[in-house]
Amino acid sequence: MNKFARIIGTGSYLPPKIVTNDDLSKTIDTSHEWIVSRTGIEQRRIVTDESTCDLALIASNNALKMAGIDAKDLDLIILATTTPDKIFPATATILQNALGATCPAFDLQSVCAGFIFALTTAEQYIKTGAANKILVVGSETLSRIVDWNDRSTAVLFGDGAGAVVLSGSKETGILHSKLFSDGSYLSSLQVSNKRINEVGFIQMSGNEVFKIAVNHLADLAQETLKACDINSKELDWMVPHQANIRIISAVAKRINIPMDKVIVTLAQHGNTSAASIPLALDAAVRDGRVQKGQNLLLEGIGGGFSWGSVLLKF
Ligand code: ACO
Repeated sequence: MNKFARIIGTGSYLPPKIVTNDDLSKTIDTSHEWIVSRTGIEQRRIVTDESTCDLALIASNNALKMAGIDAKDLDLIILATTTPDKIFPATATILQNALGATCPAFDLQSVCAGFIFALTTAEQYIKTGAANKILVVGSETLSRIVDWNDRSTAVLFGDGAGAVVLSGSKETGILHSKLFSDGSYLSSLQVSNKRINEVGFIQMSGNEVFKIAVNHLADLAQETLKACDINSKELDWMVPHQANIRIISAVAKRINIPMDKVIVTLAQHGNTSAASIPLALDAAVRDGRVQKGQNLLLEGIGGGFSWGSVLLKF
């Protein structure tokens, strides 16, 4: 039986259409300066007619290529998304067919913590020997559930996809993971629909979300490092969910990690929910910052609320 689950390939994809802060300021009462100073976001990518599966397919093929494996060799596909293409089938099964894979595939919904939940679930399959090669994807077309007239949310979100291939290994990989949920936070961040087939938009109490995110993520980061007996100096990179630069830097400060050890793609991507961590990870792998053997702390928090962390040796 494999002792560890290791990431052997990463991939990502962003739709080509760029929407800048100045573009948004033409339709809502906002400005580039306000958005950058409060969030760190400069632009986001938005789909025109691409689906969540379309984005996931390109990101997945890029990850499979880096891993050097064929889709037919996959034992499982887990797709984290808040914006599935249909009520059913799962977007993961549409992706399975598009990839030419034959393995089981399912969606996982945990909003911005979705990739962490999916990675943790995949690790359990590998550790128990139930699977050996797993594609874990975060893909979102969040622009479909944003109220583009609401300046308090419209400036925050973007579309995109990121993916990793996880493999059973005798070499060290994922060292620790921890998940939490607390549904009592429903009213702080949710989609406004009352029934599943009704269109709804993201509703958020920004200040509340900000404080909850900083407190939970900072506590969790500290607990995770302690559980692995790793001090902040031994951590090579933090790859956080990309929601707000002030949340990211407050957490980094609390755990004593300098910002030059934090992967930040927020300025260019905005908040892409379940896609944000694998998108940031892939960017840092491909530009050479993240190297084999380094210690990485991944963590995220999402609507209503769920949050979690994964500490791994890359
Ligand atoms: N442009 C200009 N002004 C704005 C905008 C905007 N886009 N949005 C809000 N304002 C105004 C408000 O109306 C308010 O005006 P008022 O003082 O006249 O009432 C003023 O700016 C300040 O509003 P605040 O909400 O207090 O601003 P804050 O500094 O808290 O920033 C923000 C708001 C950016 C939403 C922040 O609270 C935040 O990032 N919270 C976290 C939310 C988040 O990241 N959600 C993502 C999903 S959850 C996750 O991924 C973790």
